Amino acid sequence: MSTLDNTSLQLPKENLEAEDFLPLLGTDYVELYVGNAKQSAHYYMSAWGFQPVAYAGLETGLKDRVSYVLQQGKIRIMLTSPLKPGGDINKHIDSHGDGVKTIALWVDDATKSYKETVARGAESYLVPKTLQDDSGKVVVSGIHTYGETVHVFVERKDYHGVFLPGFKDWSPHYQPKDVGLKYVDHMVGNVGWNEMNKWCEFYAKVMGFAQLVSFDDKDISTEYTALMSKVMSNGNGRIKFPINEPADGRKKSQIEEYIEFYNGAGVQHMALATDNIIETVGSLRDRGVEFLTVPPSYYEELLDRVGEIDEDLVPLRELGILVDRDEEGYLLQIFTKPILDRPTMFIEIIQRKGAKSFGKGNFKALFEAIEREQESRGTL
Ligand SMILES: [Fe+2]
Repeated sequence: MSTLDNTSLQLPKENLEAEDFLPLLGTDYVELYVGNAKQSAHYYMSAWGFQPVAYAGLETGLKDRVSYVLQQGKIRIMLTSPLKPGGDINKHIDSHGDGVKTIALWVDDATKSYKETVARGAESYLVPKTLQDDSGKVVVSGIHTYGETVHVFVERKDYHGVFLPGFKDWSPHYQPKDVGLKYVDHMVGNVGWNEMNKWCEFYAKVMGFAQLVSFDDKDISTEYTALMSKVMSNGNGRIKFPINEPADGRKKSQIEEYIEFYNGAGVQHMALATDNIIETVGSLRDRGVEFLTVPPSYYEELLDRVGEIDEDLVPLRELGILVDRDEEGYLLQIFTKPILDRPTMFIEIIQRKGAKSFGKGNFKALFEAIEREQESRGTL
């Protein structure tokens, strides 16, 4: 699972070695292929406080699909559904259920990003293409990564429109209050047995990322299950991609469960940052988001383990928020239950107070919470 949470937006010393032939400015958007984008959009607005931004569909001239774009802080998500049978989006949904198709990265030069990565061995997904409308132009290109997931490079310095050419402003009457989510802290991929190193090498060689940290089954195991994980980061530390693979345990790893239900490798979770996790998680819970819970004993030992913290223990315990400390500070984090019918993707909420590490001290409590859920699904 990677709680595998790393750094904030500063340049981490650890990855100065990352080779920046691919300067990334940030996460541009995350696109999910879903069965019913209209209703998913309502969920992300009502439960998660995302704001409506842009829309494309029959009304904008598309014939085969529809997309809704929502935003909160710097986090932008796109929800796409097919309008006709038999296409690539349909196949993706049939195979994986709802899930992340695209992790789009904001760049200064999408053509160069494409050439540099393809020259280093990336498989092409989208040759550089200029999209244009009255608000200017955007260049997009793309490469494949693990499973059927892709990275799209977005160059938008000459664009002033609402999202991308072809989208129109979407401003419905219903615009619920946000919950204080600010930016994507990290996006985690689950890959198959013995594939973690292959994909870490991909991010190192093809995208110039460096490895921040790794965890093996001694760090991330319980009585029953285990996984291994490495965290890859780009040069400026804005993009962090932990990669997990299953490890042998007495029972089925949570990563194996994911791979089985997602039918392959894919995005396991996105970690979204907040400046006030107690308020954010309180609002999310009131709006119906369900979180993993840990036993009350977790909080009895907490302050002995992490020392003084600014927050009152009562709301942390009441909401089930976890805390971990490293040399540079501490972090607070919590994980939702899977947000889809298949036990695949979930969302992490994280607040960093100096810590650049990964909540390693929480792994055991978290995995035991996940195993309780697996047990209830009969998939442990
Ligand atoms: Fe995480």
